[in-house]
Amino acid sequence: MKSMKKFLSVLMILVMVLAMAACGTDKNASGGGSADADAGNNSSGEVLVVGTEPTFPPFDTTDDDGNIVGFDMDLIKAIGEDQGFDVEFRSLEFDGLISALQAGTIDIAIAGMDASPERQEQVDFSDPYYTASLIVAVAADNDTIKSVDDLTPDMKVAAQIGTTGADMVETLKSEGKIAEAVILNGLDTAMMQLINGDVQAVINDTPVTENYISKQPDKIKTVGDTMEASAPYAIAVQKGNTALLERINAGLATVQNDGTYDELIEKWLTGSSEADAEA
Ligand code: ARG
Repeated sequence: MKSMKKFLSVLMILVMVLAMAACGTDKNASGGGSADADAGNNSSGEVLVVGTEPTFPPFDTTDDDGNIVGFDMDLIKAIGEDQGFDVEFRSLEFDGLISALQAGTIDIAIAGMDASPERQEQVDFSDPYYTASLIVAVAADNDTIKSVDDLTPDMKVAAQIGTTGADMVETLKSEGKIAEAVILNGLDTAMMQLINGDVQAVINDTPVTENYISKQPDKIKTVGDTMEASAPYAIAVQKGNTALLERINAGLATVQNDGTYDELIEKWLTGSSEADAEA
């Protein structure tokens, strides 16, 4: 009887320790931003895994706690709320999103991704939800590069792997117009290299580069005209998943018609200065 009591108290301690350990693990997982489940109001229990690459503010970024947040995240959550699914975010390299869809490790990719003709051969895209151009960024104190035409064969130019910006940088390299195409995993690294002088320019989507500039206006600037993107941004699913695509398009239409989309534009893209001006 005594040993039974002792056994029970040891067991209870063990359970408590395990419970605490589980809490710890949980906290680390969300703190690292690798997975971020979000329970919507319209919960049906269906959870779809949404892949993104979060160095692309204000579309795909992380908050101070490492949670994946942004315009794209709010948009797909709103679509899910309308269509009765919850979402769980996964952070991947941008050039890994399409293969993750093909392998079925993610259900949806939303990552400021142009629905380009090449990608349309590999995945299916929703209706478009945003159009962005490309722009050249240089260090704020650079006064020799005034447009893409001022790039010279001694220069290094950076872009993010798998992006339309990288396509452009690689074309410049193959045409002999620059010394090196510096293709990086994260845009945060590309901007850092620009500020440090490791590269002379970065080619990237205009609203995203402008977001980086707004955080450090005295370090980076854009130059020259914007360059047309290959296609507007759209949400991707595995090729042939028409059922999911139809739900995404229906949800997108709802949020575009009921004012939610405009609210998200205001929240993430218009900026507080314009909101102040309107008030
Ligand atoms: N719009 C560009 C493209 O489709 C860049 C997208 C990068 N997105 C990201 N989440 N890092 O190639």
